[in-house]
Amino acid sequence: MTTFPKDFLWSASTAATQIEGGWNADGKGESIWDTLVHDGTGKIAHGENSDTSIDFYHRWREDVALMKQMGLKAYRFSISWSRVLPEGIGKVNEAGIRFYQDLCDELLKNGIQPLVTLYHWDLPTALYRQGGWKNPASPDWFAEYADVVSRALAGRVRYWLTFNEPQMFCGLGLVAGVHAPFEHNDDVAMMDITKHILLAHGRAVQVLRKNCPGAKVGMAPTGDCCLPKDDSPEEVEKARQKSLSEYPGYIMSNTWWADPVFLGQYPAWAKEKFGDLLYPMTAEEWTLVSQPLDFYAYNCYQGTVDIVPDPSKYDAYAYQGSPQTAAAWNITPKVLYYASKFWFERYHLPILITENGYSGLDCVMLDGKVHDPQRIDFLHRYLREVAHAIADGIPVIGYSVWSLFDNFEWAAGYSCRYGLIYVDYPTQQRIVKDSGWWYRDVIASDGGCL
Ligand code: NOJ
Repeated sequence: MTTFPKDFLWSASTAATQIEGGWNADGKGESIWDTLVHDGTGKIAHGENSDTSIDFYHRWREDVALMKQMGLKAYRFSISWSRVLPEGIGKVNEAGIRFYQDLCDELLKNGIQPLVTLYHWDLPTALYRQGGWKNPASPDWFAEYADVVSRALAGRVRYWLTFNEPQMFCGLGLVAGVHAPFEHNDDVAMMDITKHILLAHGRAVQVLRKNCPGAKVGMAPTGDCCLPKDDSPEEVEKARQKSLSEYPGYIMSNTWWADPVFLGQYPAWAKEKFGDLLYPMTAEEWTLVSQPLDFYAYNCYQGTVDIVPDPSKYDAYAYQGSPQTAAAWNITPKVLYYASKFWFERYHLPILITENGYSGLDCVMLDGKVHDPQRIDFLHRYLREVAHAIADGIPVIGYSVWSLFDNFEWAAGYSCRYGLIYVDYPTQQRIVKDSGWWYRDVIASDGGCL
C-alpha cells in the first residue's frame, strides 16, 4: 500500500499553444507558432496548425468543470506571452490579462491550484524579428513579461515555472530546425542563446519573488535519464554518471541547464569540451542565474537504456519489439524512480513531476466512450515508481499527467493523443476517457488504490 503525502499535487498539464486556439482573438499578438506555421513551412504534419486547437480560450469554464469532476488538485498551464503583451514588450492587452485572471479565479473557486508556466515555447513574433533569444536584450524582455503576469496573478498563483524544457525548444527549435523557429544555429550562437535564457530565468525569479511573496518557484526541464541494467550499485552509478553527462548532446542534456541553475556553475564536462568557447559569466551573473528555487521540476516520459556493453550506446529503443507508445517512445516506468533519485541526490530539492503521459491513437468506440487501457496501465506503472521513490525517502511533492486534453502536438500536429480527455476536433465535444475516471479514483484515494 502506497503512501502519498496528503497535500500531494495531483495535477494534469497543458500549454497555451497546444490548447487555447483564439490565435488572434481579442487583441492577441502572434507567436512564432502562429506566424511561422502560417508561412507554410511544411514542417507540421498534414499542414496542421494551432489556430483553433481545442478552443480552450472560449470553452475554459466547461473545461474547469470537467477538472472538478475529475477531482484534480492542481492544473498546470502556460501563459501565452503574445496574448498578454502582443508585441512581447510595451503595450499590455487587458483582455489577455483578464482571461488568465478569470481562469485562475474559476480554478481556485473549484479548489484547483494553478501551476503556471511562463514560457512554453511560444515566443512573440515581434521579438523573434529582433533576434529572439539571440538578442542580449531578451532577458530584459522576459523580466518585463514576468512582471506583467506576476503582478496580474499575484495572490492567485502560488506555483510558478519559468521555462518549460529549454532542452527541447533549443534543441528542436534552434539547432535541429524541426520546431519553430526552425533554425540551425551553431555552437557559437548556442552559447549566447544559452546565456540569455539562463539570465532570463534569473531575472524572472527575482521578479516573482518580489511580486508574489511566498511563491514556490522552479523551472521545468527535461533531459535523458539513463536506466541501470539492474539495481546493483555499480550499474546504478554508471547510469547516474551517464545521466549527468553531456549525453545525448550538450543542448539536450540535463546538466547543461540544471548545473548553472541549481549549482551556479558550468557542468565539469562542459569546461573540458568547450574551454574558452563557453559563454562567459561574471560572479553577479552566476548569483542571478542560481538563485535558490523551491523544487526540481522534471518532465519525464521515457528512460534510455544501456543496450550493449558499450556505454556510449544508450538508446531509447531497447530491443527489437520493445513496448512503445504511439509516438514511438519507450515504456520504461522505472525512469520515474531513478530520475527522482538522481535529481534529488544531485540538487537536494523536492521533486515535482511536471509531465508524464502516454500518446495513443484513441477513438470513440461503439458505446460512445473512449477506452484507453494502455494509458491506464502506463500511468499505473509509472505512478508506482513515484510511490517507490517516496517510500525510499525522496520527497516527491506532485505529479502532473501530460496531458489533460488531446491537443496540438507541435510538429506532429494532431496525429497522436495524450489526453485524459478526448476531444472530437470538428465538434469540440469532450469525452473523459476511461483513464480520466481512473485518475479521479487514484486522486480520491490519495494514491492508495495504486
Ligand atoms: C513535452 C512538452 O512540454 C509538451 O509540450 C509536449 O506536448 C509533450 N512533451 C509530449 O511531447
